[in-house]
Amino acid sequence: MAGSPESLSGQDVGSFAYITIKDRTPQILTKVIDTLHRHKSEFFEKHGEEGTEAGKKAISLLSKLRNELQTDKPIVPLVEKFADTDIWNQYLEYQQGLMKESDGKPRWFYSPWLFVECYMYRRIHEAIIQSPPIDDFDVFQELKEQNFFESQESIMTLCTYLQELMKTVEQLGEDQLKNEFFKFLQISLWGNKCDLSRSGGETSSQKNNLMSSLEDLKPFILVNDMEHLWSLLGSCKKREKSSVRVDIVLDNSGFELTTDLVLASFLLSSKLATEIHFYGKRIPWFVSDTTVHDFNWLIDQVKHSNHKWVSKSGVDWENYVKMGRWVYHDHIFWTLPHEYCTMSQVAPDLYAELQKSDLILFKGDLNYRKLAGDRKWAFTIPFHQALNGFHPAPLCSIRTLKAEIQVGLQPGQGEELAASEPNWLTNGNYGIFQFDGSL
Ligand code: F6P
Ligand code: MG
Repeated sequence: MAGSPESLSGQDVGSFAYITIKDRTPQILTKVIDTLHRHKSEFFEKHGEEGTEAGKKAISLLSKLRNELQTDKPIVPLVEKFADTDIWNQYLEYQQGLMKESDGKPRWFYSPWLFVECYMYRRIHEAIIQSPPIDDFDVFQELKEQNFFESQESIMTLCTYLQELMKTVEQLGEDQLKNEFFKFLQISLWGNKCDLSRSGGETSSQKNNLMSSLEDLKPFILVNDMEHLWSLLGSCKKREKSSVRVDIVLDNSGFELTTDLVLASFLLSSKLATEIHFYGKRIPWFVSDTTVHDFNWLIDQVKHSNHKWVSKSGVDWENYVKMGRWVYHDHIFWTLPHEYCTMSQVAPDLYAELQKSDLILFKGDLNYRKLAGDRKWAFTIPFHQALNGFHPAPLCSIRTLKAEIQVGLQPGQGEELAASEPNWLTNGNYGIFQFDGSL
């Protein structure tokens, strides 16, 4: 984009982008290959010899991919026909055009980090769809499920809190309601600590009681625009607007998704919103991101829990889906490498859908990177500027920091943090609620 700073990339030796491409992504690929090895007998049981051969084929394609990455080979076009293949290959050509390097070929360490990292996950998917009959196998499903099961205690606490509150929510005064709204927002924020791509696929479930840590975590919120969210939804409620739509662009499944559904449930029962629209990924993505299967699976698990309040929450959530008060969408755009400022051209239908929203919540780090174009912005650049014209509706990023990008800070704030905690941008300890209301 003209006038924008350059992209984060693996060219900067020692940067988080560099370390991710050099160490973290090959580790993830190794885990994926292991997973396929471990499922060999399952493939055989389901599909006989054909299944065994398909498993072998996927493993060999992924080993090749790992080798390409580790030896910094040129990025090659996608070959298998899928809904987004042409867009990907056009984007690769566009990247080629941007290359200043001698051979003009985009490579893992020389191209924008966002592009190559998305490309890696898209190539994992390609290896799977090239290997029928196991072409619907989600290589990350096991990890996502494990994360959910390991977070059971926190989920019980959250659902109990939600259900107890629902009994009296109608009687809450304005300040009390706002206080509860802020609690659910913060739970959803810190839920974003648990993504699985950071830990190289090790589980990072939520075992501690988040509810009781919220006060202690407050100083770690670097940009806190929760008041703006309250003004917006609180005023809709006051005006008794017949429909108030909140859209949540989901990130990780498992514990984080549960915190998002708890927030969504609260928004409906408190009448701060009348309908919630969720967006997930069409293909397995960045290890733990939510697909439609994960979304439905999680609601079903919650519904069948032995715990009274967890199960009651699951029943409510299933009803919201049935009644159309919760709507799940997926769109191929979310698994493209494009910055969100290009959405109106690349996916005008999705942009138009988002324009119907009263407030869009973008969960997680990857969404933030795409909102701000994954560029080397100064810390003090206004969020609005970094969005580069992307304003479908009032929006807010809810994200813990896991990449070297952050805008909209106070002068000196970033430098001060760097002096006390060198890894503040990537260790996931800090969070933001960053709002942009201008259209
Ligand atoms: O691989 C790094 C990364 O892209 C980081 O941006 C972040 O740590 C992670 O993957 C995705 O995080 P999230 O699940 O919050 O989008
Ligand atoms: Mg994620």
